[in-house]
Amino acid sequence: MTKIRIAVQKSGRLNDDSLKILKDCGIAIDNGKDQLKATARNFPLEVFYLRNGDIPQYLRDGVVDIAIIGENVLIEKGEDIAVVEKLNFSKCRVSLAVPKRMDYETVKDFEGKRIATSYPNTVKKFFKSKGVSADLHIINGSVEIAPNIGLADGICDIVSSGSTLFKNNLKEVEIILKSEAVLAVSPEISEERKEILERLQFRIKSVLQARQ
Ligand code: PRP
Ligand code: MG
Repeated sequence: MTKIRIAVQKSGRLNDDSLKILKDCGIAIDNGKDQLKATARNFPLEVFYLRNGDIPQYLRDGVVDIAIIGENVLIEKGEDIAVVEKLNFSKCRVSLAVPKRMDYETVKDFEGKRIATSYPNTVKKFFKSKGVSADLHIINGSVEIAPNIGLADGICDIVSSGSTLFKNNLKEVEIILKSEAVLAVSPEISEERKEILERLQFRIKSVLQARQ
């Protein structure tokens, strides 16, 4: 039997809520976080646990058919990939932050500065639109430490509760974009799997409505 292949974040903040929404859709998945793949017992669906940043490429290649992913990741790495549903969880912002003690007035204050980020494309585009040229340092995690160790003057990263910024003596000064979890679809999805997707989307819509 044909199954639809869905990618969800392997570990991290999206993982729990992604599995929860599938569960609320009445889909029973054997808990297999240590395995990279799990199969639903009562719906034609296979779950692949993948690294967030890899998911856009898997969708593009048609290795998975759909994904639950942060909009921010698609904006950074998958602008070509279609979103069919906003899921109303994992809300966050992608923002620029600077040390608390810095006098910050406008985005022009970033001119010539060193910015540490895991979202280089997003930052580049933002600065370009503002006519600012800055020096980007790409790092993959714990970005907020960069100003404290002298690696950067500011950062661009995800802000959710704001506690990571607070702990690192940083202040959010520009919100580049707002994001939430979305359901994204591979451009390579087959007609047969599209039908399964429609059934899944029907359930997701009901769940989202019930949650309001
Ligand atoms: C994420 C993100 C921010 C933080 C934001 O990091 O990169 O650092 O969460 O959340 P907050 O505003 O609620 O503090 P995560 O802890 O996932 O680790 P990583 O950066 O090392 O991937
Ligand atoms: Mg972080």
